[in-house]
Amino acid sequence: MFKTRVTEMFGIEYPILQGPIQWKARAELASAVSNAGGLGILSALTFPTPDELQQEVRKTRAMTDKPFAVNVTLLPTARPVRYEDYFSAAIEEGVGIIETSGRSPEPYMKLLKDAGVKVIHRATRIRDISTGERVGADAVTIQSFEAGGHPGMEDVASLVRIPLAAETIKVPVIAAGGIADARGFIAALALGAEGVLMGTRFLASQECHLHPKIKEWILSAVETDTLIIERSIKNAARVMKTGFSLKILEMEEKGATLEELLPLISGQRSRQSYTSGDVNDAVISIGQAVGLIHDIPSVKEIIDGIVSDARLIAGRLRNMGIHP
Ligand SMILES: Cc1cc2nc3c(=O)[nH]c(=O)nc-3n(C[C@H](O)[C@H](O)[C@H](O)COP(=O)(O)O)c2cc1C
Repeated sequence: MFKTRVTEMFGIEYPILQGPIQWKARAELASAVSNAGGLGILSALTFPTPDELQQEVRKTRAMTDKPFAVNVTLLPTARPVRYEDYFSAAIEEGVGIIETSGRSPEPYMKLLKDAGVKVIHRATRIRDISTGERVGADAVTIQSFEAGGHPGMEDVASLVRIPLAAETIKVPVIAAGGIADARGFIAALALGAEGVLMGTRFLASQECHLHPKIKEWILSAVETDTLIIERSIKNAARVMKTGFSLKILEMEEKGATLEELLPLISGQRSRQSYTSGDVNDAVISIGQAVGLIHDIPSVKEIIDGIVSDARLIAGRLRNMGIHP
């Protein structure tokens, strides 16, 4: 049992959150994280309709009696999405914690606050988490340059981002990006965070049901096997470095238009790759932490490992004379 404002606020044992991983952050993964003492997060837009999100919430609740959250990613989508319908669906199902990302949650804050929901807003710029705090988020997550998915356009890594976030923000700060084990966890807490959120580490877990070829790619990847695409459309995305993503980068360098890029970077295409296992036919998000991942354990093993190794690290620091 660890105690920070994050564990207290969300009623969880350990300040470890699972990032919403599009197509994969479903009941199995989220409930496993919550059952292991962290906070599982369902990815709302993985489900084509709000009704299907509600079914997944019910399924998750049947698999855990611990708190879990729903993420709504407020990024432009290929299909028209009414975000308020997803928020309302989660509220109707009694979800008490909502994570927002991609854009300011301001237009939905009244809806969320009137329903008594706790809101976590995740963003990559200090000014955007400050906006999150200003419009009423109960906690914010600062996502740094190492992260899988969207690491922002400013290219600032955790060692600088987390302390800046912690000194700027009054509500609890959670750190995301590049954290895969107890070393990153303890470092993030030392830098001023009160919790961590991991995407890439939980992607490489038993409960994530990856195609064997994708598992193989992850296990053989090193920390330099990611690259950033979509800078040209101001939507930087860290993805697996493959022939496919290198081709997209080349197209961007040659001035490809959004219309030319869209069919290649679409979420539906990534979804198909998860099924076929063909990492060379779509972009798949992955963080630099992939270089720290050498196995695909269960979620419980990941969290238990972080907790026990964190204690060892704390002991090592004490032996160096670092204690009050
Ligand atoms: C495969 C994958 C899919 C992701 N999908 C989303 C998403 O749909 N919405 C979102 O807000 N973040 C998404 N993320 C970001 C994660 O939730 C998390 O913030 C990020 O992975 C943290 O950095 P890390 O990968 O270094 O742990 C995704 C990340 C990965 C690796």
